[in-house]
Amino acid sequence: MTWSNDVYNYTLVDPKKCEFIPVCSLNEVPEGERLFIEIDDQPIVIFNLAGSYYAIADVCSHDDGPVGEGELQGIEITCPRHGARFDIRTGRALSLPAIVDIPAYPVRVIDGQVEIGIPLET
Ligand code: FES
Repeated sequence: MTWSNDVYNYTLVDPKKCEFIPVCSLNEVPEGERLFIEIDDQPIVIFNLAGSYYAIADVCSHDDGPVGEGELQGIEITCPRHGARFDIRTGRALSLPAIVDIPAYPVRVIDGQVEIGIPLET
């Protein structure tokens, strides 16, 4: 099996090549919680894991399932539809039936606002 590369792991993109969009205040994503948002019609889910923030697309690469609603164990989320697992830090597909990564976005906190970085060129 050939696993995909980091093409959708936008956390690796130079931050200067991203547009950071404020999406919520810190208190809207308490520790251990998640928040569902949309940017340009792209559903994204933000996680607060022990004070670290991660954002992935809320669309499973297997069959468009709502992966963000899945069970989270550590940094691994399990798609509720067919059980594919992904790393929320990188979007990497960790198990079948998904073989393609999902987008992972850089997250930063500025003045109490959570901001998601969208690559200017993808
Ligand atoms: S849609 Fe997510 S595992 Fe099938």
